[in-house]
Amino acid sequence: MSLQAHSASQNLHSAIDIALDTAYQGIDANGWVKLFAQARKSKVEQFIVDMFAGKHINNSEDRPALHSALRNLTKTPVLINDSDVMPAVSEVWHRIEALCNKWVGVTDVIHIGIGGSDFGPRLAIEALAHVPGIDSRGMRMHFLANIDTAELARILVRAQPHSTRVIVVSKSFTTLETSMNAKAVVAWLKDSGCTKSQIAHALYAVTANIPAAKEFGVEEDNIYPFWDWVGGRYSVWSAVGLPIALQYGFETFQQFLAGAEAMDLHFKNAPLEENLPVIMALTLLYQQEKHDIKAYAAIPYADALDWFPKWLQQLDMESNGKSVDRDGKPVKHSSPVVFGSAGSNAQHSYFQLFHQGTEIIPIDFIAVREPMSDRPEAVAHHRILLSNCLAQAQALANGKTASNPNDVYPGKRPSNLLLLPKLNAFYLGALLALYENRTATLGALWNINSFDQPGVEYGKVLAKPIEKALTSHQNNIAASDDIDAVTAARINLLNSNN
Ligand code: F6P
Repeated sequence: MSLQAHSASQNLHSAIDIALDTAYQGIDANGWVKLFAQARKSKVEQFIVDMFAGKHINNSEDRPALHSALRNLTKTPVLINDSDVMPAVSEVWHRIEALCNKWVGVTDVIHIGIGGSDFGPRLAIEALAHVPGIDSRGMRMHFLANIDTAELARILVRAQPHSTRVIVVSKSFTTLETSMNAKAVVAWLKDSGCTKSQIAHALYAVTANIPAAKEFGVEEDNIYPFWDWVGGRYSVWSAVGLPIALQYGFETFQQFLAGAEAMDLHFKNAPLEENLPVIMALTLLYQQEKHDIKAYAAIPYADALDWFPKWLQQLDMESNGKSVDRDGKPVKHSSPVVFGSAGSNAQHSYFQLFHQGTEIIPIDFIAVREPMSDRPEAVAHHRILLSNCLAQAQALANGKTASNPNDVYPGKRPSNLLLLPKLNAFYLGALLALYENRTATLGALWNINSFDQPGVEYGKVLAKPIEKALTSHQNNIAASDDIDAVTAARINLLNSNN
């Protein structure tokens, strides 16, 4: 039986004009009943209530995960320890709006941040640049994340120092890459002849650690706060998304928040059987339990969303790439590997493996109904783009027989189709919130805390003695408690070329 056997209506869902078609998942009516029962058994409904109510669902760090408050444009009170966070959130909105209004004569903005302090705004700036007619205020937005100076060098040859603004974005304000890059950019401003007061005027910070930003030299009026109840990878809705407002206007930023808010309301209020983030989470769970899948792919058939899979990688794998559950017990399943890139380019890269490889890799096909440019060719090209998207899903699901084994497509390769009416700020916000809520639902299904990331710390600790050994230029470093024999040999190899 091919995967197409299950009726279209049973598999077609929609929320805020976003359609989700799960027909190629191969899940029959009985399968769905079981999946929703499993979700109820895992207390997904209670989890959703707790998340929006500000319960300490980030149990290891004993705090709520309340990024939803950042897009709560209706300002319904959100309480933490009996105190409403919305006045502080809306004060930041007012400050962002005021900043947009006085943002004149700026040619370049250098946004310095990494991980959650980079992916969200970078994706949004890229994605919205494709909206026909959008006004980007003739300003270049540069993103500086990597400690590799290649990125820094690329930006500094283009930016005009006397009309550049610098935004240092770091929740902790202790991230090494960000602070070193920030120091390098400040030094460049100085070397380019900017005075102390010009530099102070040009320097902004977005952080949950205000003392550290002040200590770095950012003036209080130029610091935009966010809070410890916002996870870094869930933070684009805070002032971390400042580039969106500065580049495309405050109204566009509000539209982005409004799309996310609409998706939150759907997630909060829709029954599980109609709930897009829940349904998407369950399709993945189903394939994991049935086929023991180890990876899935997100393929946006929209060049504007080429950064989306990178954003999603952090969201999913930093949130749910864990081996133990909330109670410290080993889990059977957690996040698969996530990858992807824009279609149709991706078809000419790794789709061979999707069709004929030994691994089954579920795919989220993400398509947009409207063309994403106002070029005269747009309609014709877009039709071909969509045809390719639909054809790939069909070929993967149904397969093809042939006498030559090399030409056989086994089929039964599952996929979702997510169809956005258009790609503007509203639907971009809704798309990201859909995936955030899906990631959180998966955490609930696996009983994993999706809001901490202890696994990223150890490597940072080990880098310190290694850096010290590299600085010594010695090529006779011996193995020690901090540096094992393999790494000591590698350090010696690097130092022997000095
Ligand atoms: O190293 C991982 C991480 O802590 C991410 O969770 C976070 O998004 C990123 O580093 C940047 O952290 P910060 O915003 O504190 O600089």
